[in-house]
Amino acid sequence: MDQMTAGSRRQMHGIWSGRWTFILAATGSAVGLGNIWKFPYIAGENGGGAFVLVYLLCIAVIGVPVMIAEVLLGRRARKSPIYAMSDLAREAKASRLWGLIGWGGALAGFLILTFYSVIAGWALAYIGKMWQGEFVHAAPETVSNIFNTLLADKVALIQWHSVFMLMTVGVVAAGVTKGLGVAVRILMPLLFALLLVLLWYSSQYGDFARGFHFLFNFDFSKLTWNSVLIALGHAFFTLSLGMGAIMAYGAYMPSRADISKTVITVAFLDTLVALVAGMAIFPIVFAASIEPSAGPGLLFVSLPVAFGNMDGGLMFGCVFFVLVSIAAWSSSISLVEPVVAWMVESGRFNRVGAISLVGVGAWIMGLGTVLSFNDWSNFKPFFGMTFFDFLDFLTANIMLPLGGLLIAVFVGWKMARADAHKEIAETSDLQFDIWLLMVRWISPLAVAAVFVFLLWDKLLSGWWQLLLAAILG
Ligand code: PFF
Repeated sequence: MDQMTAGSRRQMHGIWSGRWTFILAATGSAVGLGNIWKFPYIAGENGGGAFVLVYLLCIAVIGVPVMIAEVLLGRRARKSPIYAMSDLAREAKASRLWGLIGWGGALAGFLILTFYSVIAGWALAYIGKMWQGEFVHAAPETVSNIFNTLLADKVALIQWHSVFMLMTVGVVAAGVTKGLGVAVRILMPLLFALLLVLLWYSSQYGDFARGFHFLFNFDFSKLTWNSVLIALGHAFFTLSLGMGAIMAYGAYMPSRADISKTVITVAFLDTLVALVAGMAIFPIVFAASIEPSAGPGLLFVSLPVAFGNMDGGLMFGCVFFVLVSIAAWSSSISLVEPVVAWMVESGRFNRVGAISLVGVGAWIMGLGTVLSFNDWSNFKPFFGMTFFDFLDFLTANIMLPLGGLLIAVFVGWKMARADAHKEIAETSDLQFDIWLLMVRWISPLAVAAVFVFLLWDKLLSGWWQLLLAAILG
C-alpha cells in the first residue's frame, strides 16, 4: 500500500478519535429504522419465532465475519470503498472486476437512501402528531386511521422526506467525524433507555406472554425459503453490511483498534436493540388486537396506542419519535458516505458539491416511494411489487447479500492471508483460522445456498414438476 497516499487520505476525511468513536459511529449506522421499524414488521409478516432464529443465526454466522472483513478492507486501504476495492484487487493481483463490489455498494446505498428518507419522514411527522396529542386515549382503529391518512397525504410525505434529506445532506456536508460523534454518544443511550421504558410498559399493559411466545417460539412450519432470504437480507441491512458503509467507516478507524472485538460489540448492540424493540411492540400489538402481519405500519400504529394510553405518554411519545428520527439520521449518513467519499477522492467534487448532487438525486427518486403508498399503491409492475417493495427487496434481499458474498470471497480467497492477519493481529491464530473458515466457506456458501434454493423454489421446481409429470404421463 502506498503510504503517502494512505496518509493523505487519512487527512482528507478525518479519523475517528478512538475505538469507541468507531463503535458509536458503526452502531449509529447499524441501529436505525431496520431495528425499530423493519425488524418487528418483517418478523410479524414471516410468522415470528423461526424467522427470528434464522435472523439471529445469520447475524452470528454470516454478519459478524463479513463485518470483520469489511472493516479490515476499509482500514487496510484507507480509502472509499470504490477506490479501496480497486487498490486491494491490484495489491492481491486479482482481477479489476473486484472493484465492482465498491460500485455495487455505492449504488445500493443510494437506492436505500431514496426510501429510507421517506420512512424516516413518517417518524418526523409523528413527533408533531404526538406533541399535538392526536393519540391521547386513541383506540387502535383511530391510530390506524391517522396513519392511513398520513400515507394518503402526498404533500405531507414529500415535505417530511425533504426535511429528512436536508438533515442528511447537512451532516454529510459538515463531515462525518464532526458533530455526529457527539450526537450519537448522547442520543443512542437515550434511545435505548426509552425502549426499555416501552418494554416496561408493554410488560405491564400488553400481552407480554403472547408477544414473547410469538418472537421466540420456533415454529418451523411457518418458514419458507422466501422468509429465510428475508432474514438473511435483513441481517445485512441491519448491520449495514454488503454495501461498503462499514468499509468506509473502517477507513477512518485508528490503526491499533481491535477489529473483531469492536465488530462483536456493534453486532451485539444492534441485535439487542432489535429484540428489545420487538418485545416492546408485540405485546402491545396483541393486546390491542392489531394483526402482527400488518406490514410497514406496525410500529406507527402499535406504539402510539401505547403512548396514547400511558401516563406521560405525550412526552415519552414525542421523545421516542425524536430518537427514532435520530437513529435513522445516523444511519442515513452512512448510506451515502461511500459514494460521497469516492466523489471527493476523485478530485472532481468537494464534499458539499458531492452530497448536494447525491441528495437531489435520491430526493427525486424517493418520490417513487412516496407514491407507492398512495397514487401508485396498486401499480405493481415489478414482479407484483410496488416501487417501494421492489426497491426494498432488490437492495436488502439481493444487492446486500450478494455484496457480502463477494466481500467474503475476496477476503477469504483473493487477499493474501498474511495481509488479512496483519489487520486483525490481535486475534489468536485459532480465532483467525475460525474466522477465515467462515469467510471462505460458511458465509459465501450460506448466501449462495439461500439464493439457489429460492430460485429453485420460485422458478425451477415448477418446471421440474411439469417435466416429471410429462415423463410419467
Ligand atoms: N442499518 C440500517 C438500519 O438498520 O436501519 C440501515 C442501513 C444503513 C443499511 C446503512 C445499510 C447501510 F449502509
